[in-house]
Formats: sequence, structure tokens, C-alpha cells
Amino acid sequence: MIKNKQVRKAIIPAAGLGTRFLPATKAQPKEMLPIVDKPAIQYIIEEAVQSGIEEILIITGRNKRAIEDHFDRAFELEMTLKAQGKYDLLGLIEEIPNVAIHYIRQKEAKGLGHAVLCAKQFVGNEPFAVMLGDDIIDAEVPCLKQLMQVYEDCPGTILGVQEVAQEKVSSYGVVKPKVVKERLWQAVDLVEKPTLEEAPSRLAVLGRYIIEPEIFALLETTEPGRGGEIQLTDALRKLAQVQPVYAYEFEGRRYDVGDKQGYLEATVEFALKRPDLREGFLRYLKKNWGELVNGGEK
Ligand code: G1P
Repeated sequence: MIKNKQVRKAIIPAAGLGTRFLPATKAQPKEMLPIVDKPAIQYIIEEAVQSGIEEILIITGRNKRAIEDHFDRAFELEMTLKAQGKYDLLGLIEEIPNVAIHYIRQKEAKGLGHAVLCAKQFVGNEPFAVMLGDDIIDAEVPCLKQLMQVYEDCPGTILGVQEVAQEKVSSYGVVKPKVVKERLWQAVDLVEKPTLEEAPSRLAVLGRYIIEPEIFALLETTEPGRGGEIQLTDALRKLAQVQPVYAYEFEGRRYDVGDKQGYLEATVEFALKRPDLREGFLRYLKKNWGELVNGGEK
């Protein structure tokens, strides 16, 4: 029987090579690419903090120093802005969440399951959250908080899911669902990146998880799966055989910022939501729309 404990810790895997965004990611982590003016990973950290997370572990790899610098103090910059009386800019720096962030390096790129296993010591024996940096979710109630609310009534592993188009199922971990109640299913099985024929549903796991610590023992014995990598989905699938694993359809608009189209959609929509940018950007779009869609022809 799972005891209902509080979810206090989150892990954010950020060791990927970011090859989908080369050349931008040759010398800087993809997690630092800005959506409007904030690095993508700051949106994730903000969601964690707003959900009540107290400690974060970022799993990094080579080339990730910029992430550590971003969440560290920058005294020289702060002093300079203060001396120049630029308190509005100082405010933007102070808005970067000041939460306990730890870092560990994943020395080999062996997959998401292996990255999560690197957090075993940090997590200990409590339920924890996994937040994937490619998935930015714009929601009234932060996505992770929604999962935590479900966890209160249904302790166990909770996967954040949404329905995706049939032709997209092969990009995700997909759940075989059994209805529990509105928006909530038991995940009786899971498949990592199934073919159209293999897909047990269109409910895809979209980068937010609350996971019970029993996953670590299972990850330790999980063989490389899809793409030759140790897949978190494969360990979750084993977990589902021994304790409840739920799939919750969270509310909110999810952007796949690991993909160029998703990144552009997030950039445009977040800019249009910004009071300081909306009017000017909208005016620009309206004025130039015809020209933009006609590929530059007047
Ligand atoms: C990972 C997971 C997959 C999940 C997806 C969500 O895949 O392996 O199960 O559905 O993230 O974005 P990746 O996109 O890293 O290949």
C-alpha cells in the first residue's frame, strides 16, 4: 500500500545534445534558448516552484555551464544595474526563482530512464516529480500542481497525458488506459514510441510525472529499449504491474519547444500574451501578414 507523502523534489533531465536545434545548440544548451526573453528552463523551474516543489535536481551533461550560471547570483551585473539605477532590469533578474537547485552530470547519453536513475541518491525514498524541458505547459493551475492534486486522492505514480493526433503517437510514450473517472485513467500498460498499429490509445505522456521511488530498482534492471536507450517508459510499464500508475489528462496548452514548429508557436503565442509586447507585435503581424504568408512577394 502506498503511503500518501508530499511531493517535494523534482528532477529535470537536461543532458541531451540538442541536435534538433543545431547550430544554435553547438556551444550552448538547448534549455537556455529563449522563449521571448526567458530561457526555456526558467519556465519549467517557475512551474515547479509554483507547484510547491522545494528542491530541484537538474541532470546536466557537457556544455551545460550556462544553466548553472543562470540560476546563480551575478553580483557584477547586479551592481552595475544598481549603479545605473536600472531597477526594472534588476527586477527581471530577481524574478528568476531562488529555489534550491542541485546539479549532477549524466556522463553517458543512455536515455531518459538512465538520467532519472542518476537522481536515485537525491530522491531517496519519497515520491518525486520529473519535468521534461521540451514540454512547456501554459495553464491556469500549473501542470505539476494539477498532478499533485490528483496524487492527494490517488497516491501512486501519476503521468500527465493529453490526446495527440493519431499520426503523432509514435513520438511519445503512449498509455493503455482503463477509466477511473473523468480525466483520470489507470495506465495498465505503456508503450514507448509505438507505431500507429501498436499504439494502445492516443493518450501521450507529455513531460510531467509524479513517480514513486520503487521505480529506481526497476530502472536498474531495465534493458535498453527503443533507440538503444534505457527508457523511463519501460520501467513505468513494469511499475504498473505492481502498483497503481495513473494517467491524468491535465488542463492547459502544451508546447513542444524541442521541435522547431512548437518552439515558434510558443514564441509567437507567449509574445502575444505579454502586455508590453502584444500591441506592437500584433500591429506588425496584421500589417505584414499578406507579405509574410506570400513568402515575401508583395
Ligand atoms: C520523452 C519520453 C516519452 C515522452 C516524451 C514527452 O521522449 O521518452 O515517453 O512521451 O519525452 O515529450 P523524447 O521526446 O525525449 O524522445
